[in-house]
Order: sequence, then C-alpha cells, then structure tokens
Amino acid sequence: MRVSLAGLDLVNPVVAASGTFGYGIEFEEIVSLERIGGFVTKGISIEPMAGHTAPRIIQTAAGMLNAIGLQNVGVEDYLTRKLPPLGRYPLCKVIVNVFGYTVGEYVGVIERLNQAEGIAAYELNVSCPNVHAGGMAFGSDPGSLEYLVSRAKAVSRRPLIVKLSPNVTSVANMAKIAANAGADALSLTNTFLAMSIDVETRQPRLSNVTGGLSGPAIKPIALRMVYETARAVTIPILGMGGIVTPEDAVEFLLAGATAVQVGTASYADPRAVERLARGLESWCRSHQVERVSSLTRALEVPRTRTIPKAAGDS
Ligand SMILES: Cc1cc2nc3c(=O)[nH]c(=O)nc-3n(C[C@H](O)[C@H](O)[C@H](O)COP(=O)(O)O)c2cc1C
Repeated sequence: MRVSLAGLDLVNPVVAASGTFGYGIEFEEIVSLERIGGFVTKGISIEPMAGHTAPRIIQTAAGMLNAIGLQNVGVEDYLTRKLPPLGRYPLCKVIVNVFGYTVGEYVGVIERLNQAEGIAAYELNVSCPNVHAGGMAFGSDPGSLEYLVSRAKAVSRRPLIVKLSPNVTSVANMAKIAANAGADALSLTNTFLAMSIDVETRQPRLSNVTGGLSGPAIKPIALRMVYETARAVTIPILGMGGIVTPEDAVEFLLAGATAVQVGTASYADPRAVERLARGLESWCRSHQVERVSSLTRALEVPRTRTIPKAAGDS
C-alpha cells in the first residue's frame, strides 16, 4: 500500500484533507494515525485568525457548504502546542497547509515552519474561496500563482504541494503554471464556490453569504479535473472531492492521482480516513492489485471513444 510522491513515503495513499482533521493531534484517540498515510492541517497563517461568525457550515444535498474563514491558531501556537505531540506517530506524515493574505505572509509562514522538525511537506492553499484577499485570489490569476509558487519554492526546505482551485476556467492551465513555477506536487480540488438561501427569511444561510461546496456532490467534477490535470502535467497529484468509499478513491487513482485526500466524509464518520485506508487495501486484495501505485493513471479509455481536449468540448 506504500506510495511515494515528491520525496514523501506514505504507508498508504489515504490522507486526511485540510480543515477537516484539525491539527491532527485532536484525532489521536479516534483514528490510528499510523494506519493512514498522513493528514493535512487546517490552513496556518502568520497570525491567529478568528474566522467568520456563525453560521459557517450547513448541510446540502449530498454535501456541505462551509465558510469558516480560515480560523486557525497561527504559526507560533501551532509549533508550540499542536505539532510536538505528533512526534509519537513517526509513520504518519504531517503536511502543513499554508495560508497568507500576501506573498510575504506565505513566505513568512514557510520560513517559520522550516525551523521545526516533524513536518513532511507544505501544502500551499491558493484556493480558499472564503476570504476576500489571498487564497483563491492567488489560485485564479496565472501571474499571481506563478509568482507565489516560485517565491514559496525558493524558501521551502520541504516538498511543496500546491492546492489548486476548481473555481477557474481551466484547472489544467493553472496546473501547468504551478508545475513550471516549481511545485513538487499538486492537490485538487478545493471547494466549489456556492451558496444557499433560506426562502422564509430571504437571507443567505451562511454569514459570509457564499461558501465552498464539498462532499459527494462535487465528486464527478473533481474527478474530471484530476483527469485533465494528469494529462497536463507529470508531477504527482493528490486527488480529492467527495471521496467516501474505497471505490471513490480508486476512481481518483485511475484518473491520475498518486494519493487521495478525504475531507467531508470525516464529518459524517470521524473514522472515515482510517476506514478508507483499510477499505482500499481490501479492494486491492480482492481485485488482485499487488501494488496500489499500479492504479495511478491506469484509466483505460476504449479506442472507439475519443477523448475531449478540454472540459466542455463535445
Ligand atoms: C469545513 C472545511 C474546512 C476546510 N478548510 C480548508 C483549509 O483550511 N485549507 C484548505 O486548503 N482546504 C480546506 N478545506 C477543503 C478540503 O480540504 C477539501 O479540499 C474539500 O473539502 C474537498 O474534499 P471533500 O469533498 O472530501 O471534503 C476545507 C473543507 C471543509 C469542509
């Protein structure tokens, strides 16, 4: 079940997604942390952030809508209180999701994290739809993305994963820009910009008005984006969006992912990530798949079918 990506050796390819697994340590009595490939922390910024006021999460048909606003403890508190206890689980890879409002803030967080031990990689969040500056503003503008990724890569002591936004016209183009600017791997997708309205009060259900949609509702779109990205770049991909069952994970691997991330499923079942890691192993055994890595990019498209060049081609 081992996979390697961008210099990271994971015990299996199932990783908990950012914002749905706290800072990892909160899950130590719920999940066997060494039985999952690793986890990505909540987005960490230079200063602590309080996030938006409630309501910030609502359930939707086959998914959920959130506008947390990147609440987090800030890099200093993270390094002092949250990271050190994870030394008890050396097999579980800690990936820190990095967020900033400016390029300087992203670089500042990375430089501070560089000084600590026990972190396997950084995931650059250029795709948060819930803040007015930073986040998606970087991930949806080619020039800003290129500049941010190249600056982050220049200071990073660790593998740099760039988390792409699905809220763009061509995710494959953004993937190429990130790869050319030095990304070691890509993760996708973040949440899809969305909203919900209470017709009785005629008000938006989220305090931020709009939020990000995640969960099974987005899976087919996220899968298509992973597939297009895998055809555009050669660097490894961590695929995510609505994964709940082992078969969902296999779909993402076949479409081109080397590992998968699991987010919203943990809200329905806090043990979902571990359950999926075990379930994927059983799936491989029952399908005579000797190495899970052999599934990556193994999609078979029948010769009689033409592959559209881009989304929307008919
Ligand atoms: C409540 C919540 C908070 C999130 N916070 C972050 C975050 O801080 N940084 C980030 O890159 N992604 C964040 N995400 C996005 C997830 O990591 C993931 O990309 C997305 O939810 C799609 O996967 P899923 O359908 O399995 O949840 C968050 C998602 C949810 C539901």
